Amino acid sequence: MNGTAELIIDNKHLKLPMIVGSEGEVGLDVAALRNETGCITLDPAYGNTGACKSAITFIDGEKGILQYRGYDIAELAAKSNFIETSYLLIYGELPTSAQLAEFSCELTDNQMLHEGMRFLFEGFPTSAHPMGILSAMINAASSYFPNLLNGTERQTGFPRHAARLISQVRTIAAFSYRKAHGLPTIYPKSNLKYTANFLHMMFSSPNEDWVIQPEIVRALDLIFLLHADHEQNCSTATVRMVASSRANLFASASAGVCALWGPLHGGANQAVLEMLEEIHAEGDDGTRFLNEVKNKVGNRRLMGFGHRVYKNFDPRAVIIKEQCDKVLANLHKSDPLLDIAKKLEEIALNDDYFIARKLYPNVDFYSGIIMRAIGIPLDMFTVMFAIGRMPGWVANFKEVMEDPDGRIARPRQIYTGHTLRNYVAVEQRA
Ligand code: CMC
Repeated sequence: MNGTAELIIDNKHLKLPMIVGSEGEVGLDVAALRNETGCITLDPAYGNTGACKSAITFIDGEKGILQYRGYDIAELAAKSNFIETSYLLIYGELPTSAQLAEFSCELTDNQMLHEGMRFLFEGFPTSAHPMGILSAMINAASSYFPNLLNGTERQTGFPRHAARLISQVRTIAAFSYRKAHGLPTIYPKSNLKYTANFLHMMFSSPNEDWVIQPEIVRALDLIFLLHADHEQNCSTATVRMVASSRANLFASASAGVCALWGPLHGGANQAVLEMLEEIHAEGDDGTRFLNEVKNKVGNRRLMGFGHRVYKNFDPRAVIIKEQCDKVLANLHKSDPLLDIAKKLEEIALNDDYFIARKLYPNVDFYSGIIMRAIGIPLDMFTVMFAIGRMPGWVANFKEVMEDPDGRIARPRQIYTGHTLRNYVAVEQRA
């Protein structure tokens, strides 16, 4: 489709160019709208607004398609791993073996935190949520690399800083878990690969190394890979917004962690497990709970269901559900919460309320059950999402940084407050 659309406001005709993406998506370019007509577009929560052009990830929510740099998520899930996929997202192509080796070296060389950061960890109370610690510590880590703020270094040092961020987020995450549970810090090991190294820092003790279980490493690596990017969601849009002000990579990623924390976004994986635990504790099989959701009792939602973009199925949920059964079978574990989850899914998928609103299980519906099976504590679930999403944020940051036409992101608003009025002194106010 090519051409222009025409907008008529008060007999004034404005031609809006149609911008067509490589997968045939069409956008109307409204950049000239305000200058030409004095109007702006109003689209709360951005359901119809394209804020950028991007070559990183493609989603067709109606067809359940998700592609990273043109590769189907199911193929990457089956054949690739998190680190190779991270390289693909950031640099646009699958790496050669030399490029992959160099990237892995950078990750290993940059895995240690500055020792000074240990004192910062000490300052957090044990009740601190690991997402709060993660966001604060990623931002704090930037203080140890003042060059990050320098215009030239922002570009030339990018590969090292990108690897540093992806590597250190895993170290920070494991340290926050150990701190919150009063456990001694376990340092990373250079001979371990990314995901195994993370599990080592989480679960080894000073006297005994965590015994690597390949199926657990693979399951967590897959969770990271499936979360690695998801185009313009709440947190990625936040990262791009912050990056547009020319803030540094670490500051931009730290803002992304804050946006991801909420239960409607990355926090949903924790919320799903809390919901399943509550249903289980009440002796319900899910039926009563779903009735409350449908009747909007206390504005309850079936967490792990629904998506702004996917309106038929979430392709990540299909992959992760299969993985969930495998992990539990491998670990010889049964989980009553999995039975409740399956029951909820079965009822919801056949219920008019959910069908009419096109609500289907999303990636978070089953990822929590896998994480629980492999021993990740509940308050670390969203942190796992953040580790996984880091390469996507880095890739989006790079795209913003390299955009020759890039401008600071600055939306407008329709003002609905008071019109001009006079100040009244405090003693005269009613
Ligand atoms: N349970 C029950 N009702 C729901 C749900 C749900 N999970 N999600 C949406 N609805 C209803 C909502 O009440 C509304 O009903 P009505 O038309 O009667 O007012 C209708 O569906 C449309 O909802 P919406 O809030 O306008 O939809 P949205 O596109 O703004 O929200 C969402 C998308 C993901 C925030 C929402 O579906 C939700 O809250 N889901 C539960 C939280 C969740 O699982 N989030 C993880 C998303 S996937 C991971 C990620 O990428 O962040």
